[in-house]
Amino acid sequence: MIIAPSVLSMDYSRTEQQLRELNESGAQWIHFDVMDGHFVPNISFGPDILRAVAGSTNLFLDVHLMISDPVFYTPVFIDAGADSITFHYEAMESKERIKELAALIHSRGISAGISIKPNTPVTVLQDLLTDFDLFLVMSVEPGFGGQSFMESSLDKITWLRCELSEKGLNAHVQVDGGINEKTAVLARNAGADVLVAGSFFFRNDMKKAVKLLEG
Ligand code: DX5
Ligand code: ZN
Repeated sequence: MIIAPSVLSMDYSRTEQQLRELNESGAQWIHFDVMDGHFVPNISFGPDILRAVAGSTNLFLDVHLMISDPVFYTPVFIDAGADSITFHYEAMESKERIKELAALIHSRGISAGISIKPNTPVTVLQDLLTDFDLFLVMSVEPGFGGQSFMESSLDKITWLRCELSEKGLNAHVQVDGGINEKTAVLARNAGADVLVAGSFFFRNDMKKAVKLLEG
């Protein structure tokens, strides 16, 4: 089980201390939410902040692009230190462009992920299963931390895990939004192996939060 704390929920007035604690929490990844005020109604961080975080950690930097133009910005965030780039299915104009962007990410030597919003059927990913290292099921409408987990995400997680194992693929199935001690159990049982946690992680003792989420 991989725990990926979302720095969207951290206390920015104590960034240095929070990152130090995060580094020692036992979490393996850092989830970095990029929002452009267009794909989602909120604005978060740009590449300069990612570069600063990259300089303060050895953890795997999992970048989640909630932006309308992932084609243009993906190379920018790779240059800034991303270890993985996840972009949204809904932001892309065709399956061909999606496959091209996944190939570009791989050509730069990092992992590629694709994400779907709560109203997008998971079956749109059927013919993309061999193109990605990670499939991100949103369990809230993207844009803000602190929302409630949508249980409709569980069937999508299960579908992905089954399809991947049937094809002998061991890509990550990640879930993002409303993850806490209780919903983590549901997500794990459904087949998720990467749990993103924002408010739950930063509102609790970080080491304890990781243990609780790992189960
Ligand atoms: C939501 C972001 C999430 C968010 C999760 O748009 O993609 O990563 O930070 O926060 P919590 O865990 O508070 O729902
Ligand atoms: Zn996210």
